[in-house]
Amino acid sequence: MADLPALDVLLPLDSPVRHLAPRADEAELVALFAEHASGPLVRANMVTTLDGAATGADHVSGSINGPADFRVFRVLRALADVVLIGAGTARGERYTALDVPAELRAARAAAGRADELELAIVTATGELPDRLLDSDRPPLVLTTGSNPALGALRERVGADRVLVADGGTPGAVDPRAAVAALTGRGLVHVLTEGGPTLLAQLTDADLLDELCLTWSPQLVGGPAGRITRLPTWFEPSRALTPLHLLHADGVLLGRWRVARLGA
Ligand SMILES: NC(=O)c1ccc[n+]([C@@H]2O[C@H](COP(=O)([O-])OP(=O)(O)OC[C@H]3O[C@@H](n4cnc5c(N)ncnc54)[C@H](OP(=O)(O)O)[C@@H]3O)[C@@H](O)[C@H]2O)c1
Repeated sequence: MADLPALDVLLPLDSPVRHLAPRADEAELVALFAEHASGPLVRANMVTTLDGAATGADHVSGSINGPADFRVFRVLRALADVVLIGAGTARGERYTALDVPAELRAARAAAGRADELELAIVTATGELPDRLLDSDRPPLVLTTGSNPALGALRERVGADRVLVADGGTPGAVDPRAAVAALTGRGLVHVLTEGGPTLLAQLTDADLLDELCLTWSPQLVGGPAGRITRLPTWFEPSRALTPLHLLHADGVLLGRWRVARLGA
């Protein structure tokens, strides 16, 4: 863990600054992220540059994240039942079946999570990389009943791993039906790692409880989009309340509670 930075806890403001040194089991960081997160939860973990880009010039997030972000990323995964992503992220960010590092498994078990961390992918086309579809631990695939690839998907990943989540928009997965399909399988601690299209839909559908967002201290310019991509504005815009703010080497890592409109 020597190559990872200590994290300064800057928020809440009424507490003295603490330094969370890296440690194999990340016990302090696990405790911090488990706070205020006991029940079912849809949490997002994203990274942005200071000029608002969701990717760098490499068109993925690899060039804008770093070791501080990695510490939180691992802990958030360890506390999740399922990582939920859009197919664009599965394709672009080269996802494979997910493993929780051995040193975080005790914390995961203590939090009541199953041994295996599931990966769930939202897709209309079903065009997912072979490395995922042919894996011996294939993802859950959330798609529509009208997807022409439905039968082929069922054959490749198993019928019980293809979840039809139709809703109001023909040809599109309904975010509410998607989250309900996961929670129906007992996957109630949902961690979405994006991308921007999926995150925007989850937010718009009033499903997001928490946003964990890393600001990478870079300006990248370029045509990159933001962490939410939707042709329309959120109506109303969503209000967030800070839960904590971490810092390491100029990188700021925030965690906010999202006020659900329907709450
Ligand atoms: N900064 C960050 O934290 C972060 C995180 C993740 C990704 N990214 C970046 O974001 C970029 C990808 O962005 P993106 O917005 O395209 O990613 P995305 O949301 O992961 O993927 C979009 C794709 O997901 C599927 N999808 C999403 N909503 C759907 C719905 N309601 N119904 C059916 N299918 C749905 C569709 O797949 P099909 O085309 O298969 O139908 C759609 O083309 C990449 O460059 C990636 O590196 C950044």
